[in-house]
Amino acid sequence: MEQHHRGEWGSNLGFLMAAVGSAVGLGNIWGFPYKMGDNGGFAFLIVYLILAATVGFSIMLCELAIGRRAGRSVLVSYQQLGGKMGTFLGFLAMLSPFLILSFYTVLGAYCVEYMSLNLADLAFSVSALAGLSGGDSFEAVRVNQFGAVAFTFIFIFICFLIIRGGIKDGIEKFNKIGMPALFIMLLVVIIRAVTLPGAGEGLAFMFTPNFAPFKENFLKVLSAAGGQMFFSLSLAMGITVTYGSYLSKKESLVKNSLIIIVSDTIVAILAGMAVLPAAFALGGEGAGKQGPALLFITLQDVFNAMGTAGPLFGVIFYLLVILAAITSSIALLEVLVTFLSDRIALKGKIPNRAKLVTIVCVVIFIEAALVAADGLGKNGLWIPFQETGLPFSSTWLDFMDSVSEGIAMPLGALLMSIWLGWFVGPKIIRDEVNMEGHKMNGSLYAFFNFCIKFIAPLGMAFILYGQIVQFFTVSQ
Ligand code: PFF
Repeated sequence: MEQHHRGEWGSNLGFLMAAVGSAVGLGNIWGFPYKMGDNGGFAFLIVYLILAATVGFSIMLCELAIGRRAGRSVLVSYQQLGGKMGTFLGFLAMLSPFLILSFYTVLGAYCVEYMSLNLADLAFSVSALAGLSGGDSFEAVRVNQFGAVAFTFIFIFICFLIIRGGIKDGIEKFNKIGMPALFIMLLVVIIRAVTLPGAGEGLAFMFTPNFAPFKENFLKVLSAAGGQMFFSLSLAMGITVTYGSYLSKKESLVKNSLIIIVSDTIVAILAGMAVLPAAFALGGEGAGKQGPALLFITLQDVFNAMGTAGPLFGVIFYLLVILAAITSSIALLEVLVTFLSDRIALKGKIPNRAKLVTIVCVVIFIEAALVAADGLGKNGLWIPFQETGLPFSSTWLDFMDSVSEGIAMPLGALLMSIWLGWFVGPKIIRDEVNMEGHKMNGSLYAFFNFCIKFIAPLGMAFILYGQIVQFFTVSQ
């Protein structure tokens, strides 16, 4: 009988590029710099790093080890650890990518739209954006439902073309070119941004150590750092387990976890150096914004204010954000594709990857079309629980985001750390780390044991609480 081979990363470097690519996303560009500036600058960075080295490291190591141990999809990987909890965690970890893709692809599509408009301006002097303020152009993009749905289709189609090629010839190949390209474009934008007159203010906002937020509300700082760290590292969304399942037993899980965490943090800091100086120098009133408003309003104002060079930097900048969004989206899609593929293989049949990728992409396109048509609440679509007036029901994006980022992901990581630390036992992770001559020494194991039993559950409970407050209560 013909045998099905799941495939494997071609090299450890290829795996790392893909894993860092999955972690580096919109969150690094629009979340981290502002949160760092708003919560104490360098002081925030220290808190962030401590949380990343304890909570982030222990959960990432567990996810990589659980995936590689099973060599299967996220559902089967958790199930192999036993019990109903395994099945529950597996489904939870698949629910998040499914929901996140509904809006992440739309945000990626907005970037494609902005890149195209800047390109038209650059190549043909079609001033589609000049003359319009950033706010007006974003309004126009959101209201144009057909345009948003069409660009969402294009974005998902690009992802489709990449993942159809498989782990090694699709995802790895794309990341091996895409990630260095992203890095180079980031450096180009940083050089332009920090040499703008008035750029120092943005750098000072981000980097000046400021302990006032610590004294005023330490819990707010802790919650901002914890939440950002957790989401930036793409934890509890099936990605790390799935990517780990294609990793060779020869590779070091500890070293890989550390490289992913450090690289993601470096890119987040660099993104801040690209975005904030420009926002403060030329972004006018939008300088203190974060999230979609920073990306699509403030920064477009920056490019408008740059004169003739504006569209060129607009093209480079949105292209780099598109790359960041694609490398995260293909990871999210692969979680679902691997799930279907392994299910079929376990039944003894040979999965048809092209067919499965098509099914997943079509389903995601349907839910993303809804989010795109909603235009971040601009177009009067009905949204569940709208009448409550709570933040999670103000747009379709917020609704999808609150179920995934607000509940499923932090709850999944919280339960996973308690379950693994206290019931399954951390030894199972050490056994997987200690493959093919690798050795987790006594003190590292003691550190990991302490983190997964105490610090991670505590940290995750706190992050879950912070998310619930953010999504489900009206801010004063
Ligand atoms: N880690 C990526 C980012 O920071 O954008 C990917 C991601 C994480 C997407 C969490 C969505 C999300 F909710």
